[in-house]
Amino acid sequence: MCRPVHFEVTYSINPWMDPTKPVDAELAVAQWEALYALYRELGHTVDLIDPLPGLPDMVYAANGATVVDGKVLGARFRNAERAAEGPAYLEWFRSHGFGETHDPEHINEGEGDFLVTGSWILAGRGFRSTAEGHREAQEFFGRPVIGLELTDPRYYHLDTALAVLDGDEIMYNPEAFTPGSREVLRRLFPDALLVGPEDAGVFGLNAVSDGRHVVLPEAAQNLSGRLRERGFEPLGLDLSELLKGGGSVKCCTLEIRG
Ligand code: ARG
Repeated sequence: MCRPVHFEVTYSINPWMDPTKPVDAELAVAQWEALYALYRELGHTVDLIDPLPGLPDMVYAANGATVVDGKVLGARFRNAERAAEGPAYLEWFRSHGFGETHDPEHINEGEGDFLVTGSWILAGRGFRSTAEGHREAQEFFGRPVIGLELTDPRYYHLDTALAVLDGDEIMYNPEAFTPGSREVLRRLFPDALLVGPEDAGVFGLNAVSDGRHVVLPEAAQNLSGRLRERGFEPLGLDLSELLKGGGSVKCCTLEIRG
């Protein structure tokens, strides 16, 4: 995770970002601290990367890399405003003993667009990461990468439209995908939890699950109830200030696997 000490909204690269709207910088840090504390209460180890001045979106750590089987695929950002984050995150991994790293040639925005299930890596494209970036990920990880086409600019990263709950159990908003990609999801995940605009629109799918607890924005009330019915324990948080940059729980969290 990356503490949002330099967080602000001074440019707009997604429909949630409005530079004319004020951001409460202190509240942003306090809300982030609550997420950081919650993970530790749940027993997870959380490493921090130093926030760099001039990179207000660096708080969205999910975009910094993708780590599977201890192998680190760096990120290459679509927008110039975030370009310097890729090398910064890759450097963190290299200096923390991760031997197998890859500096990507093609655009991929880390776990914003790559979500790892038990059997596959689901990969979003259409707004940020590209099909070439997906191919590069498949070659590097040696795991099947399933490309999914996003269509709604409000759900510009895969992690705003889909979340992995446990193994091959997922939840997603079908409306964020093209008809073909919806069909792919229906075939691969017939038992998925389908989420509508009421919960998706408050970033309810930007959630992190450890297989039992699902940390998500507290505004996704209806979704929390449905997760409880499935045997999960939903834990809601208010990350209103970070939503002004177009991110929430998952965006602030880069998962380190194996
Ligand atoms: N302002 C950031 C951007 O538009 C938000 C990134 C959110 N991160 C995520 N994993 N969806 O790139």
